[in-house]
Amino acid sequence: AKRMAVLTSGGDSSGMNPAIRSFARQAMLKGAKVFAVREGYNGLVNDSIVPLNWGSVAGIISRGGTIIGTARSTEFRTREGRKKAVFNLVKNRIDNLLVIGGDGSLTGANLLRTEWCSLLKELVDDGKLSLDVMEHFPMLSIAGIVGSIDNDMCGTDLTVGADTATRRILEAIDSILSTAVSHQRSFVIEVMGRNCGWLALASGVATGADYILIPESPPEDGWEQTMADNLEKGRLSGRRCSLVIVSEGAIDRQGKPITSAYVRQFLEDKGHDARITILGHVQRGGTPTFLDRYIATRMGIDAANYFYDSTAEQLNQPVLIGMSGMDTIRSPLMECVQKTQSIASLIKERRFNEVVDVRG
Ligand code: F6P
Repeated sequence: AKRMAVLTSGGDSSGMNPAIRSFARQAMLKGAKVFAVREGYNGLVNDSIVPLNWGSVAGIISRGGTIIGTARSTEFRTREGRKKAVFNLVKNRIDNLLVIGGDGSLTGANLLRTEWCSLLKELVDDGKLSLDVMEHFPMLSIAGIVGSIDNDMCGTDLTVGADTATRRILEAIDSILSTAVSHQRSFVIEVMGRNCGWLALASGVATGADYILIPESPPEDGWEQTMADNLEKGRLSGRRCSLVIVSEGAIDRQGKPITSAYVRQFLEDKGHDARITILGHVQRGGTPTFLDRYIATRMGIDAANYFYDSTAEQLNQPVLIGMSGMDTIRSPLMECVQKTQSIASLIKERRFNEVVDVRG
């Protein structure tokens, strides 16, 4: 029987559990022995690898977060750490690994894959593994599912957790607006997203925000007054509140961060009764929405199918399992990572007009 493991790494997101569940069960249905690596890559380094059975993933489809734990592992970033990871995988006779995490976590998986043979050889030379290991475990197959609230990855229309996070943001903003209207206040809401403005944009569209600030499209110089004018127009048309959404990574044309505190102060100076709410980790938690359960379940099933139905050559090409519309698609993992990272560099270098060309 094939032996495969799943790990979750980086920031958790709602929908990771449904992905773990469907992957484990589909793999079991195909006859595989399935394992969970606990606490992200730390579990590979420390041999915290436990077998899963049908019952161990029961009842998790509606639970936020990840039942197998996640971490941003520092030891795995070292070659020594990855050597331990290879040793522990081989010790457990696992050569198929599903990683659910962000671009950093998926890059780590690919690094482990590319170093696999040389690390095995070192372990054989150190006398820790016997020579025939190279024959039995010639490669490590990797599949990646993007688990991140940020929706910041190429290769998928949606990352697992982004829909739930927008749901949390909408719930919060809807609540805030009812008090804002009562007092005729202006609210500046800061949302997560790291270098990606998707959460701000999506929730801004869905709440009718007056102004949205995102990293990918920094506002023209003098934007502060344009923003104030927009808010004023709303008030003149009878609106009793104003709403500005600031992505935590928002920057101006010079690349300087635009903070929610700065926006609030500007509005206050213009005579607004302005307040800030920084939504923080409430955006990452809670029960997954229908869409996150659906896409995570579909992606998990496809990851198990990939390990089962692929040729040896295909198994040597790591894949990212994403969604295109309501269907799963497989793309070359590292192409997706590189494209994603090149968008981040374009933003850093303030080459904003080129972002759309890369993202498509
Ligand atoms: O990548 C997910 C995310 O929630 C980002 O939106 C945010 O910038 C970051 O993680 C927060 O990280 P931490 O939970 O480590 O504070």
